[in-house]
Amino acid sequence: MNTRIITIDGPAGAGKTTVSKLLSQKLGCIYVDTGALYRGVAYEILNQKIKWENDDILEKFLKNLDLNFLMKETNLILMSSGRDITAYIRTPEISMLASSSSARPQVRAALLDIQRNIARTKDAVFEGRDMGTVVFPHASFKFFLYADLTVRAKRRFDEMKEVTKDLSNIQKDIETRDKNDSNRISAPLKPAKDAVKINSSFLTIEEVIEKMLGYIEKA
Ligand code: DC
Repeated sequence: MNTRIITIDGPAGAGKTTVSKLLSQKLGCIYVDTGALYRGVAYEILNQKIKWENDDILEKFLKNLDLNFLMKETNLILMSSGRDITAYIRTPEISMLASSSSARPQVRAALLDIQRNIARTKDAVFEGRDMGTVVFPHASFKFFLYADLTVRAKRRFDEMKEVTKDLSNIQKDIETRDKNDSNRISAPLKPAKDAVKINSSFLTIEEVIEKMLGYIEKA
C-alpha cells in the first residue's frame, strides 16, 4: 500500500465521524465513514423488504447491491444504484439494522473491496469498527477512540434533539449496538494490537485531534 491510511475505530458516539472529518482536512486527504456503507445495506434491506436471515436471499441481494461514495466538497455522499441515499440512513431503525446485519460475514465480504479500492489510490482517514484489525491491518496509523457510555448517549441526544427527547432510549440503543458490534464472530469491534487508544470522555474534539496529530507528526 503506497497511500497513507489512518484508521479510527471505536464504538457508536465516541466522536469518530467529527474527528475523522477534521483530521482529514488538517492532513489534506479524504475521509471515509465506513458505517455509512453498512447503513446503506440496512437501508436497501428495508427498502426492498429483504429477508436477510436467509443465506440464499442475502447472497442474491448482495450480488445486486451497488453502493459507492461520491465526495462533494468535504462531504461524503452515499450512492445506491446511482441514487443519493445519504439523507435516509441516520434513523434509529437503520442504526440497529446496520448493527445486526453487519454481523453477517457475507455482508462484510461484500463491502471489503469497496473500502480497499478507495485506499489504493487516495490517502484517507477511514473510520469504522474493524479498520485497523481487518480492513487495513497495515495502516500507517491506527487509533481507537472510545468514551463512557453516558457521555456517548448524551452526545447522540444533543445531535438528535429535534427528533427525540428520550435520552434513556438512546443510551439503551447504543448499549445494544455496542454488544452486537463487540460480540459478533466476524470482525468484532476491538482495538488493533498496535492502535493508540484515546478516551474522548473528557476531551474536546480539538484535543483529540491534537493528540492524533502529535502521534502522526512524531513518526
Ligand atoms: O459507525 P456507525 O454507527 O454509522 O455504524 C453503523 C453500524 O454499522 C455499526 O453499529 C456496526 C456497523 N459497522 C461495522 O460493522 N463495521 C464498520 N467498519 C462500520 C460500521
